[in-house]
Amino acid sequence: RPIWPGLIEAYRPYLPVTEATPVVTLLEGNTPLIPAPAISDRIGRQVKVYVKYDGLNPTGSFKDRGMTMAVTKAKEAGANAVICASTGNTSAAAAAYAKRGGMKAFVLIPDGYVALGKLAQALLYGAEVLAIKGNFDQALEIVRELSDNYPIALVNSVNPYRLEGQKTAAFEVVDALGDAPDWLCIPVGNAGNITAYWMGFCQYHQEQKCSKLPKMMGFQAAGAAPIVLGQPVAHPETLATAIRIGNPASWEKAIAAQQASLGQFNAVTDDEILDAYRLLAASEGVFCEPASAASVAGLLKVKDQVPTGATVVCVLTGNGLKDPDTAIKHSNNQFKPGIEPTLASVAEAMGF
Ligand code: F0G
Repeated sequence: RPIWPGLIEAYRPYLPVTEATPVVTLLEGNTPLIPAPAISDRIGRQVKVYVKYDGLNPTGSFKDRGMTMAVTKAKEAGANAVICASTGNTSAAAAAYAKRGGMKAFVLIPDGYVALGKLAQALLYGAEVLAIKGNFDQALEIVRELSDNYPIALVNSVNPYRLEGQKTAAFEVVDALGDAPDWLCIPVGNAGNITAYWMGFCQYHQEQKCSKLPKMMGFQAAGAAPIVLGQPVAHPETLATAIRIGNPASWEKAIAAQQASLGQFNAVTDDEILDAYRLLAASEGVFCEPASAASVAGLLKVKDQVPTGATVVCVLTGNGLKDPDTAIKHSNNQFKPGIEPTLASVAEAMGF
């Protein structure tokens, strides 16, 4: 039967699991690669742009790919609790998968900088939510030490199983296109996902599932762009709170991917992010969160460098519903309130 079994089952030969591994899954993965004609038009020259809409995973972000692996391996090792630092999405995924696997979840978040939907998820999934008066980088430092000193499994992307799970997104892109794209545009925060995609493309290339490797194009928010600047940012700031990170854990691996692929790192401003965010929703019908739109903002920023006829994939890492506040605050559109409940009033409000 053509039922998607979740990414561990789907890509079992490529993942560090055995028949005895207790798979914890919510049937994540298999997300659509959607053509983006409006973005393609903005570039022209027969460039074909697709978005990998990973906001359609079970908890609404790509983190589910890493979390099915990390929680599965934690369970296999006998852990009964997991912990992570998070700008929101990792905490939602950790909470959901930990609970699915019968474990406790502790999440450390930067107080006041987590989008509403993500906080709602972590709470309802039943995680212990600890909001620190500090940023993500500080939270990550604390959970790394905690997991060294207490019996609790760390499920941030410094856990290698996270990247193993996340690399399957690259497999899916190749499976959908029949080859690797020419460019892969991706938002960069802690730099785990760009590392994971590169691992996936390289592994598939070795297995001759694709004939080429994409240029890895990483985009950071201008106020939180340590890799672009070449030094940590002590006080990262961006409206794209998911990537409000000043000292990425996978910094070196991300640089290695960029260099090996002849790719680039660039920064995009919050205004550029918002323009791409609105364009994706209002012209493509795809609602992603602001951090995700950094991939499209970045592509449009460097569009003159895209080779004629190239195939480009932009990764949309999270669902727009994660962050309703930003959507309402930064939409160019407004609803019309207070209309009398009569046909005449509604027709008039419609402009008839
Ligand atoms: N996009 C979204 C929606 C994210 O939530 C994140 C990271 C990224 C992009 C960047 O990915 O860190 O692998 O470079 N969110 C983490 C979290 C930090 O805690 O949810 P990265």
